[in-house]
Amino acid sequence: MTDRPFKDETLLGHAGNKPQANFGIVNPPVYHASTILFPTVAALEEMLKDKDRQSKVSYGRFGTPTTFALEEAVAAVEGADKAIALPSGQAAAAGALLTFLKADDHLLMTDSVYGPVRALCDTTFKGLGIETTYYDPLIGAGIAALIRPNTRVIYLESPGSLTFEVQDVPAIAAAARSAGCISMMDNSWATPLFCKPLALGVDISIQAATKYIVGHADAMMGLVLCRNTHYRQLKNVIHGLGYCAAPDDCYLALRGFRTLAVRLARHAETGLTLARWLASRPEVARVLHPALPGDPGHALWQRDFTGTCGLFAFTLAPCPPAALAAMLDGMKIFAMGFSWGGYESLLVKVNPETMRSATGWAEKGPLLRIHAGLEDPGDLIADLEAGLGRLKAAS
Ligand SMILES: Cc1ncc(COP(=O)(O)O)c(C=O)c1O
Repeated sequence: MTDRPFKDETLLGHAGNKPQANFGIVNPPVYHASTILFPTVAALEEMLKDKDRQSKVSYGRFGTPTTFALEEAVAAVEGADKAIALPSGQAAAAGALLTFLKADDHLLMTDSVYGPVRALCDTTFKGLGIETTYYDPLIGAGIAALIRPNTRVIYLESPGSLTFEVQDVPAIAAAARSAGCISMMDNSWATPLFCKPLALGVDISIQAATKYIVGHADAMMGLVLCRNTHYRQLKNVIHGLGYCAAPDDCYLALRGFRTLAVRLARHAETGLTLARWLASRPEVARVLHPALPGDPGHALWQRDFTGTCGLFAFTLAPCPPAALAAMLDGMKIFAMGFSWGGYESLLVKVNPETMRSATGWAEKGPLLRIHAGLEDPGDLIADLEAGLGRLKAAS
């Protein structure tokens, strides 16, 4: 993996494609399949003997060439040996966690984790006898003090959902490794382009490919990325649970992936333009964007990431709810929605205070999350400016 021959942008354009296996067609066709037929008893028995048959075409649920093309491409760019496609980012997190956790195990979970993963831990996992302790995302090497004899998994998400704390990934991964725990990281914000969790020492990387990999707000997809050592165990549990990504969605995800670098460059640039503009406004109390100098996570971001996406947040000075509604309800371009990573800009109020137990959330004013889309940045600023005008008028 360390002597990869091509740069990421080149891999983005080619990894996983096998045109000569498909009449020279550039993109892998969408193979729909449940039943796979074997011509002879010998061929059938040959398939059953092959322990890795789940990466070959042997049964619809185990994937088709469309699935494998996506998995191969994303693994190549993220520097993983293998990837497994699942029907959503949430499924990727759940499948990875369930692979390594069982009753009486202990899970260390970042307090800044994506809300539905937190809910999974607090309900389903609790019911299965798996105990979760939430830790301060900024804990760094101090995580070692929280590891118990039965701690099995340490889960990271960097930057954190909604509040964008950048974690000391190598320090946490090293502590996990020396205690014999599995480390996992949700890498959806950075995408496989801007952070390589496995190279930072993490065992399992999780991608909500629904976001930037699909990139067009029209399909759900998740990926679990790993080294060969963990692959078979992950595959067995994930397929045992019945997760399989639909071939049409794998096709859309791979098509989106091919243009990830150019789209992200624009998302990033517009995001930074908006973030700087917002930081200069009197109505804005704080901008939370790790790529901005002055952000508390900036030094770690510079060390461990090679770029930024277009997702960040800002807090307003305290204001009446009706004034905030006047601002958000009247936006002309920004829309209110949660699933980010598409070409369209989003602006939504989020409530981290309802999802924190280890750290709390002290900011007084409302927190708004922005996804900078691909529209004209000047138009987006004008939309925000008019929104802040409505906010002021109604305050
Ligand atoms: C950081 C993060 N991880 C995981 C997910 C879940 O992805 P999906 O919507 O594909 O289930 C999301 C969705 O918003 C997310 O923001």
